[in-house]
Amino acid sequence: MNDSNDLAWDSKLKVYTEIFDYFEEDYQNYGYDPTPYVVLEELVKLNLIKKEDVVVDYGCGKGRIGFFLNNQIGCRVIGVDHSERLLNVASKNLERYGDNGEITFVHSKAEEYVPDEANIFYFFNPFSTKIFRQVLKRIEESKERNPREILIFFYYSTIEYITYLPTERRLELIKSVHFSEEVILDRVPAKLDVFRLK
Ligand SMILES: C[S@@+](CC[C@H](N)C(=O)[O-])C[C@H]1O[C@@H](n2cnc3c(N)ncnc32)[C@H](O)[C@@H]1O
Repeated sequence: MNDSNDLAWDSKLKVYTEIFDYFEEDYQNYGYDPTPYVVLEELVKLNLIKKEDVVVDYGCGKGRIGFFLNNQIGCRVIGVDHSERLLNVASKNLERYGDNGEITFVHSKAEEYVPDEANIFYFFNPFSTKIFRQVLKRIEESKERNPREILIFFYYSTIEYITYLPTERRLELIKSVHFSEEVILDRVPAKLDVFRLK
């Protein structure tokens, strides 16, 4: 479980998603850093995402989540990012992965785009809790338009989200997986929480 695992998965999927990119970061919208594949392996083992699900990766960057989940589960994935530059990288990755029509990339701010057919939403530290609240409101509105069971996956390690998420009354925690610094090769531990939107 180390960098070689990340490089091995990128190579297996024929994509380049490893290198971070903070060029367009500001105090509300954070930069690109991929979820470690070891975390995605554990996410798939939870068996909560099925082939027939439609997943949105909010802040998809170079598209790692889409390639991995489509390869491992066969589900549809919509990657959304506000960076056109990162989405160009994602599109080149899609050509190398093999465009099977099940992975789409959308250029939009997350707070302005919620597809009503999606039932799984994934977040890895894309933006501030202020923007997250706006996105959550849009997801709730989508659920009113098209009633369905919605799961929200959140991978995080920052104090901002460690303090905010337990106070969010619209979310019911159904599963938590902890990752030590050694496993994710980072300076701080992290957590994958799965919530049901009430
Ligand atoms: C930490 S990366 C996560 C990448 C990917 N989801 C993963 O887990 O491998 C955060 C991404 O969010 C994007 N982002 C930041 N603010 C955004 C916003 N308001 N709307 C859409 N994307 C945003 C950034 O461009 C970056 O690619």
